Amino acid sequence: MQAGESGLTPELLLQLTTQAADAADHAYAPYSKFRVGAALLLENGTVVTGANVENASYGLTICAERSAVVRAVAQHGPEMRVAACAVTNLNQAATPPCGACLQVLSEFMQPASRIVFRGDAGWENYRFDEVFPHRFQLLR
Ligand code: THU
Repeated sequence: MQAGESGLTPELLLQLTTQAADAADHAYAPYSKFRVGAALLLENGTVVTGANVENASYGLTICAERSAVVRAVAQHGPEMRVAACAVTNLNQAATPPCGACLQVLSEFMQPASRIVFRGDAGWENYRFDEVFPHRFQLLR
């Protein structure tokens, strides 16, 4: 994993993936059996985790990344900002955060913030704007 321009060390980001994996243990995923964990490193240095929470109505399911964002705002307030988000799952599936989660994260991340996820050949580490170049903005 590369340190990149963010200044976050590979060790720190690797630690974040471990925290994401630990969070996945708490997932409520009786329908898909796909347990996901996310760990957010906030700009204030604290880490906030989340796990997916499914629902019998399926559509009400909350992804791990969004549950982490909601928890981070609830714990740290609306000014909190996310320097890095790591996400993983207990199926060892190679997958980035879904588009809905990236849109939600976009409210709290900078273009150069980091997104880390399990790829086909180990952890992948991208700038936020590489994985989500165009966010929806409410311009009136
Ligand atoms: N899921 C996440 O937690 N994060 C994502 O980025 C995509 C999908 C969850 C939702 C659902 O509980 C399960 O994975 C299968 O889609």
